[in-house]
Amino acid sequence: MADLSSLFVTRLYRAALPERKPLVDIAELEATCLSVAGDDDAGHDWCEENGYPGYTSYASLTDLPWRFPVFADLVRALDAHVAAFAEDLEFDLGDKTLQLEDIWINILPEGGTHSGHLHPHSVISGTVYVAMPEGTSAIKFEDPRLPMMMAAPPRAKDAKRKLRTFAYVEPKVGDVLLWESWLRHEVPMNMAEENRISVSFNYKWE
Ligand SMILES: [Fe+2]
Repeated sequence: MADLSSLFVTRLYRAALPERKPLVDIAELEATCLSVAGDDDAGHDWCEENGYPGYTSYASLTDLPWRFPVFADLVRALDAHVAAFAEDLEFDLGDKTLQLEDIWINILPEGGTHSGHLHPHSVISGTVYVAMPEGTSAIKFEDPRLPMMMAAPPRAKDAKRKLRTFAYVEPKVGDVLLWESWLRHEVPMNMAEENRISVSFNYKWE
């Protein structure tokens, strides 16, 4: 019997937010996201100028945890999730720590997509799911070795998940997903009539 093993594994972390304290009030988080989006004219201007469907606070607001207690609670919860993921990854952080760098709101309307991208300059990135209407998009991750697979045959349709070139994950409201920031991902088109609302973030090593 041959001995087969997996090398250079890509880890994906998924957990429900309330598993760790402090508990985050998702209804309040949703209301806050909508209220911020309603007031942020500079953010809407940026989205329009840059062809971003829907709304993101990414370019306009950098102090959500300072302004809104529910975001402060969220960051405390995320710190614990990120620490758990760093442990799983067996990072040797030395005398530095993983710290929140950015956190921002995404509101993707019907027909909106977010094309493939990485999060440069960060170590851990992730998303918390705030509103996921029936039929809305999963998040799609791409095998980071894809650009090297010039002559590789495609994988069988029913290939094991860990061997597929793309991985689709359908998070539930209140879920947090974490991945290493170099992992390319995209949000396919939101086919639901309602908004898909999420909060994304980056952690740096400093
Ligand atoms: Fe992203």
